[in-house]
Amino acid sequence: MADLPSNRDSFGSKFGVIAATAGSAIGLGNIWRFPYVAGENGGAAFIIMYLGFIVAIGIPVMLSEFTIGRSAQKNAFGSFRKLAPRRPWYLIGLMGVVAAFMILAFYTAVAGWTLEYIYQSVINGFASKSPEQLSGMYDSFIGGTWRPLLWFFVFMGLTAAIIMAGVQKGIEKYTKILMPVLLILLLALVIRSVTLPGAEKGIAFLFQPDFSKITPSTVLEALGQAFFSLSIGMGTLITYSSYIQKNDNLGTTAFSVAFADTFIAIMAGLAIFPAVFAFGIEPGSGEGLVYITLPNIFQQMPGGYFFSLMFFVLLGVAALTSTISVLEVIVAFFVEELNLKRKAATWLATSSVSVLGIMCVLSSSSMSDFTIFGFTVFGLMDFASANILLPLGGLFIVLFVAWFLGRDKVKIELSNNGSLKAGYIPLFMFIIKFIAPLAIAFIFLQGVGLINF
Ligand code: PFF
Repeated sequence: MADLPSNRDSFGSKFGVIAATAGSAIGLGNIWRFPYVAGENGGAAFIIMYLGFIVAIGIPVMLSEFTIGRSAQKNAFGSFRKLAPRRPWYLIGLMGVVAAFMILAFYTAVAGWTLEYIYQSVINGFASKSPEQLSGMYDSFIGGTWRPLLWFFVFMGLTAAIIMAGVQKGIEKYTKILMPVLLILLLALVIRSVTLPGAEKGIAFLFQPDFSKITPSTVLEALGQAFFSLSIGMGTLITYSSYIQKNDNLGTTAFSVAFADTFIAIMAGLAIFPAVFAFGIEPGSGEGLVYITLPNIFQQMPGGYFFSLMFFVLLGVAALTSTISVLEVIVAFFVEELNLKRKAATWLATSSVSVLGIMCVLSSSSMSDFTIFGFTVFGLMDFASANILLPLGGLFIVLFVAWFLGRDKVKIELSNNGSLKAGYIPLFMFIIKFIAPLAIAFIFLQGVGLINF
């Protein structure tokens, strides 16, 4: 394995690092997945746990990934090999690459839906439709074969094109402009949604916790959602931080990204739930929630045509800045471990992911009866990555940093340039040695039913 730092890509600016990392974190996980998972798992009580996990577990895992990636300057697998030669820690990296395959497959399927909805916005396809009709429109779209497949491939192609061109050119530039626009649009939607007649019930659903809804599996869902939303537990941030310059501040990056990600998720909840209750949609209605609710709001807004168009374009962009980060995990692995050229690695990665992706797309039509452990392929990829692979990955990542790399390495990466005050290092070490791993292990074992307290 050659050391290639000199011809490795790196991010150009501090803001570029934040834009790319926040671009990875903010995506369908916040706007599509968070509202329906929260809806299915009891609303406010779920959200409170979610917030606790972001702070107590998410940020420490993120800082641990940054420590690994920036000190090794390698892909997720190679980083472990470099830092722990001839030891089995590289298996964590391998598990991350597997998780990347699974996530990219179902995530790109959903990202493709945004393209259909952009198209529908352009032709004014939502106009004067009732909530039932909009829900029927969604069902017949995802129940089809060719359209969802077409959009899947278009989205995969866009992701591949950006990755082939290198990481930061273009994407750094776009995310810097588009992320703020997404925020403004989301704020406009929130205002429309909370002022609809009947919105109070949605607000209550979001902010009045009913702790009787909490079960071990909802706790694991909240943890899985926190990992998924922050893009942690599978080496995406190891890969990205391997492109971060040595004098960049990893502490502020982690806090800013976690804050932005959480803020966008809560805003999405405020845009969706008041409208869900106002239009009599079921809060637990699953993957279609956002795609059915939002067109209902757009119809009721002055200028809804433009808002709808802009919103789905931006949702697509938010998804794209996430898909590229997932694809980069696989491509960096192929380039550095199989010695492939970037272009060949991208082809290999996208074509192999597409096989799984096609099955995910067809999970709502011809393959809906094909189930494994009671899940469709789509459902399995989603559940197994978010609720199993990411928490396990996160567990081993913190253990690796805490017990193998140790405090000195952590200090070099996290505090020598003033990012995390040296006084916080013992606290951080304590969290990643004991609190985070015990909490993850407990929630995981309890959530999958292996222990029962
Ligand atoms: N964090 C992204 C989202 O919330 O949409 C999804 C994601 C990206 C998950 C990258 C995992 C990952 F490695």
